[in-house]
Amino acid sequence: HQSDVSLASLELGPYDHYMQKEIHEQPKALADTIEAVLELGFDAALFGESAAQRLAEVEGVQILACGTSYYAGLTAKYWIEAMTGLPCNVEIASEYRYRDAWAHPKHLIVTISQSGETLDTMEALKYARSLGHEHALSICNVRESAIPRASDLVFYTRAGAEIGVASTKAFTTQLVALFTLAATLAKLRGRLSLEREAALLEELRALPGSVQHALNLEPQIHAWAQAFAAKHNALFLGRGLHYPIALEGALKLKEITYIHAEAYPAGELKHGPLALVDEAMPVVVIAPNDALLEKVKSNMQEVRARGGELFVFADADSHFTDSEGVHVIRTPRHVGILSPIVHAIPVQLLAYHAALARGTDVDKPRNLAKSVTVE
Ligand code: G6P
Repeated sequence: HQSDVSLASLELGPYDHYMQKEIHEQPKALADTIEAVLELGFDAALFGESAAQRLAEVEGVQILACGTSYYAGLTAKYWIEAMTGLPCNVEIASEYRYRDAWAHPKHLIVTISQSGETLDTMEALKYARSLGHEHALSICNVRESAIPRASDLVFYTRAGAEIGVASTKAFTTQLVALFTLAATLAKLRGRLSLEREAALLEELRALPGSVQHALNLEPQIHAWAQAFAAKHNALFLGRGLHYPIALEGALKLKEITYIHAEAYPAGELKHGPLALVDEAMPVVVIAPNDALLEKVKSNMQEVRARGGELFVFADADSHFTDSEGVHVIRTPRHVGILSPIVHAIPVQLLAYHAALARGTDVDKPRNLAKSVTVE
């Protein structure tokens, strides 16, 4: 457990649930996590003393994690490969640890864990070491927990204590940490100009404000959630950087509402999930105005043609309007490469309000634990 947890951080204050409190704490959690980055720029020192030399040697990245932390890792793959030119692989820790994995001593092991105690992630790290990986970096929220102690480099997210079993503020702060890692590796490899670095730091600086705007969508999302509470299934779609956010949205919904939810990269619709779509299937689409928007729009038409009801999160530039069977919530102005962080908020709120409407135990969903330290 965190040594710096103050009693105040454990009190609910004006909130009904820890999950609600933690969702609303995200602007602060992000601002706190970003603080040192804004001071230093994308500097290896953010990751520990020997980081400059170790990160300069890196020839690839292998990310290992479980649950929500794994989805943070999937998002990071898009950033790392686009920004650094390094290959990046992401794997569920419980799979990696039990297979004959390919290893390269100069591929950086990155474990992501809110608690720092997840057994499978810890064992995956040990296994990676046994395969000869020379450098291991931990992204963790709990200081001095087992996984950062077993790592060479550490970036502590500053989300504060997370009590709700369904991870929220830990996830978005992990994303900021991973983005910082991508930018730092890019800089060390001469792939980040000073102008680009300044622009990315500006985007980070603006992030807590954009997240606050996303939180302000709560009344509209609450209204959608009432419709979701009566459903038995839900499908989440996204593409590119927003595909992992679709996965996280489906995970949040299934964890706390017990509604069966699945996520697909929208381009895969035709390869299976389209068979599930009928009038009873709500389809949540994360569709900000990015390079893939036109593709997403044609995927949405495929859903409508089968009677599926669309619930679309899109920024103003996406030019969506409500129509028969299509509900749209406008997300904040597009924030470029950090967009998945902003779009994590509405899917958290959707799950939270659908769970309230169903009367489930939001903070302690059945059968689940906050920290999984057994197999
Ligand atoms: C459990 C929690 C999840 C979490 C996962 C990984 O399943 O319920 O919310 O994402 O463990 O936990 P970690 O602490 O390693 O991030």
